[in-house]
Amino acid sequence: MTHGPPALGADGRQDARPTPGAPEPDAVRRMFQAIAPRYDLLNTLTSWGEDRRWRRRAAQLTRARPGDRALDVCTGTGRLAALLLERVGPGGSVTGVDFADAMLDRARARLPAIEFLAADARRLPLPDAAVDVATMAFGLRNLDDPVGALTELHRVVRPGGRVVILEFSPIPTGWVRSLVGGYNRRVLPFLARRLAADPGAYRYLAESIERFPSAATVAGWLRAAGFPQVTLVRMSFGVVALHVARRPHPGPAAP
Ligand SMILES: C[S@@+](CC[C@H](N)C(=O)[O-])C[C@H]1O[C@@H](n2cnc3c(N)ncnc32)[C@H](O)[C@@H]1O
Repeated sequence: MTHGPPALGADGRQDARPTPGAPEPDAVRRMFQAIAPRYDLLNTLTSWGEDRRWRRRAAQLTRARPGDRALDVCTGTGRLAALLLERVGPGGSVTGVDFADAMLDRARARLPAIEFLAADARRLPLPDAAVDVATMAFGLRNLDDPVGALTELHRVVRPGGRVVILEFSPIPTGWVRSLVGGYNRRVLPFLARRLAADPGAYRYLAESIERFPSAATVAGWLRAAGFPQVTLVRMSFGVVALHVARRPHPGPAAP
């Protein structure tokens, strides 16, 4: 499925904001520092155990091949980066980028074959066209400038290379929406109180999932970042959306 025109804000301009009221990047970093020790467990619980299947599909949609250079931004504990490594093999390379050291410490301990860099998604420490494919899983929702970060991905992916964005997506209506909304509002905070050092963090995560804009808006951000063709894949009754974009090859120079 390919999307229509980008979503417009109330003033008629394209809306590039993430979630209204999204916290400042420093607050986001502190929050992930605090929840790092329990992140993987809570991630599996909050996704009903589906998260591995979602990330595996994201890695597959990159079409990364043995020998490719892959990048995973907002890599967290490196779970998607690990799946990219399986695809590119020992002849390829995977770089993971995140700005929360505590998340990266866990990734580095588990995945010595991957290079993990502490950096902001909005200023990637990589040269232009440095990688063949790039991914971001559950990161976009936390960014205050999604188009800026996607523009960075466009810069570092080579022409013809693919970018895959995996994120929760609002479910318009029906029983799945009620079920997921109830789970996020009631079960998630309960689990967070029992398991997490910072239950407020999981309230934020639940709320940020609910407030995140539609897949059509995300497609609009990708187009604004320089990816004209965006394809949408939904999984788990629409609970998550995977956007696949390809950096176009430059056209012939104007005479
Ligand atoms: C919900 S976690 C997702 C982690 C991982 N991708 C996964 O699939 O489990 C979001 C991650 O994005 C990182 N992050 C948020 N904003 C960032 C930014 N501006 N630059 C770099 N990393 C960021 C956080 O530190 C956190 O590790």
